[in-house]
Amino acid sequence: MKLTDVRGLELTTDSPKAVEHFNASIAANAEYRLSAGDLMAEAIEADPNFTMAHCVMGYYMKSAEAFAPPEASMESLLAAEATDLSKVTPRERASVAALRAWVENRQDDAIAIWDSILDDHPTDLLTLQLVHYRNFWHGKAIAIKDSVARAFHAWDASMPNFSNVLGMYSFGYNENGDKVRGLELGLQAVELNPDDLWAVHAVSHVYHDTGDKDKGIALLSGPKPEWDDRNAIREHLRWHESILHWDKGDYDRVLDLYDNHIAKAITPFYLDIQNTAAVLWRLECAGVDVGSRWKDLSDVVAQRVVTRNLPFTDVHLAMVLGRTGEKDRMNQLISSIRSDADTARNSHEMSSAETDLAVCEAVDAFCQADYKTAIDKLLPARWNGYRSLGASDAQRDVISVMLGQAALKANENTLARSIFAQRVESKPASQLSWLWYATALEECGNETEAQQARSRMLTLDGSLAAA
Ligand SMILES: [Fe+2]
Repeated sequence: MKLTDVRGLELTTDSPKAVEHFNASIAANAEYRLSAGDLMAEAIEADPNFTMAHCVMGYYMKSAEAFAPPEASMESLLAAEATDLSKVTPRERASVAALRAWVENRQDDAIAIWDSILDDHPTDLLTLQLVHYRNFWHGKAIAIKDSVARAFHAWDASMPNFSNVLGMYSFGYNENGDKVRGLELGLQAVELNPDDLWAVHAVSHVYHDTGDKDKGIALLSGPKPEWDDRNAIREHLRWHESILHWDKGDYDRVLDLYDNHIAKAITPFYLDIQNTAAVLWRLECAGVDVGSRWKDLSDVVAQRVVTRNLPFTDVHLAMVLGRTGEKDRMNQLISSIRSDADTARNSHEMSSAETDLAVCEAVDAFCQADYKTAIDKLLPARWNGYRSLGASDAQRDVISVMLGQAALKANENTLARSIFAQRVESKPASQLSWLWYATALEECGNETEAQQARSRMLTLDGSLAAA
């Protein structure tokens, strides 16, 4: 028997109760609510032969990553495959095939299947989210926007979770350089549903990239009890708040956010590792003593060297291992990435692994004060802003900061001047950018320009004005 979901897509089940739980779960997942998994479990309980409920549970388990047992996504896949797939719709069958590809870490195959599903069913919200996120984490920046662009015609404000689609589209535009359209769509999404944390997240990215720090802080700061029932997006939004304060030179506030939110309940989940290591690295680049905080990350990082997941996480694992002097684990990490490069199945995987390897080797060299090697490793992939690593412009900025710092420390002053000249063009509202640019100019003997850069810095909002 066929019923339909809240957006009219066919579901093979004869249980209206199961569909009710299914709809509630998809809506909860769209808002990053912790209840999404339990609601899908209730759908399965209402109809144990509900193929899509098993499949979506598999998607959840794979997305939950370190929060779920390693075998959980495979168990859901097998449960979905054990239902009668000859009786389900082509969309449902394709979804199960995509889950198998993803569980087997054939990311590109999964994305191709999801793209195909969306060609026929552009209102399949969860599939749209999955393709959006996987493109994001696997360095396919153009596809972050275009996957939504292909589906957008089928959506309007009367449809459930439209804000989520607006939020994805906003983020896609932002990551492809159109901050104006990104902000327009993002604000529309937040106005439609302030509870939609992907929409809030998209707007926070625009404010970061455009240097609208106070607007970003106003959006993200405060107790936020409404975030209590959300997953790790909460800590990532606090990370966003922290880098806005970092850019203003308010390092006490950054440490406060780090200690009381970002690292407070640190887990091996990849986003936690990225958030924490990136904050500590940025603080040190600004000359802040972070005390024993790197050491506090050792245990969770040790687990992830064995269970690596994303190139961008590898970079942060390397930061922790480099800062804690764990050379054996660093070698283990680098050797594992090198084997990824050796076994890449296509040019995209090759590019991703090679960039991953180069950046992690650069981190290793940087932490051993071998700044010239760090520069040599980082320069080749500078041309595309390390996009092959996945993640956002805001997140990958830490690598550009590292390159600039390495150039200053290696007395490669002309290179440092070039790097920070580029940075003040792209981040003219950043006091730190102007401070580093002024330092590089001074090292090059460009006293007049250095003075002008310092004067420019003093016109900007932030505590570095007193430096
Ligand atoms: Fe983000």
